[in-house]
Amino acid sequence: MAAPRTPIVAGNWKMNLDRSRGVALATAVAGRRGEAAGVELVLCPPAVYVLPVAEALAKAGGDVAVGGQNASDKESGAFTGEVAPAMLLDLGCRYVILGHSERRTLYGETDAVVNSKTKAALAAGLVPIVCVGETLAEREAGRTTAVVTEQINGSLAGLDAASLEKTVVAYEPVWAIGTGKVATPEQAQEVHATIRGLLAGLSSAATAARVRIQYGGSVKPDNAAELAACPDIDGALVGGASLKADDFLAIAKAFAGRKA
Ligand code: PGA
Repeated sequence: MAAPRTPIVAGNWKMNLDRSRGVALATAVAGRRGEAAGVELVLCPPAVYVLPVAEALAKAGGDVAVGGQNASDKESGAFTGEVAPAMLLDLGCRYVILGHSERRTLYGETDAVVNSKTKAALAAGLVPIVCVGETLAEREAGRTTAVVTEQINGSLAGLDAASLEKTVVAYEPVWAIGTGKVATPEQAQEVHATIRGLLAGLSSAATAARVRIQYGGSVKPDNAAELAACPDIDGALVGGASLKADDFLAIAKAFAGRKA
């Protein structure tokens, strides 16, 4: 069953920019938002810049959303250095990226941790963008499907249909992140279709048909259109290219004409 899926393109700024450059970038994106009409746009600055970016977007008017790059799975309490999902919401966030490969690899986040964070984000009223993806060694060993299956089933375990429908999944092959090596549309589509099948297994085909699945990993203006043409690719999670308004908007525009 085909379900309408609004394309969603999110910029993951990672640990880049400072306050004034972040505000300038957000203001530029908001001002030119019309270039990607019909595409949901999300900017994910470092947590300390969420508020000025949210304020700049509010001032500019329009509907560009703000997201966090990570959040705690705890509501509040003695967790030094952590940020609760409700705090991100309080600053104006609508989204939060969870389980990014850098969090999984550098900070030891397991599927169980990502699952717990996903549930906490949903409970707080945030939309989680849950990332999965295989490493180069895993792909070369023919383990892509096995790895992604484990990550999806583990990270999204126990979500009811309503929660699953809200959740955004980002397929980001680790070997494509920040390397300039993008997955071919065929490689990406194949995994996206696998993920949609897994979501159907966790819930139902109707629910799976409503979940937006982004591709991430070296998405640039010159490869966005061929990715956007794939039936199961519903948007992009953009790192490096999201730091320039021109590039971010060009990528978003590539998804504008997309019909699920
Ligand atoms: P990249 O990063 O676009 O710079 O490859 C994507 C991501 O890590 O989300």
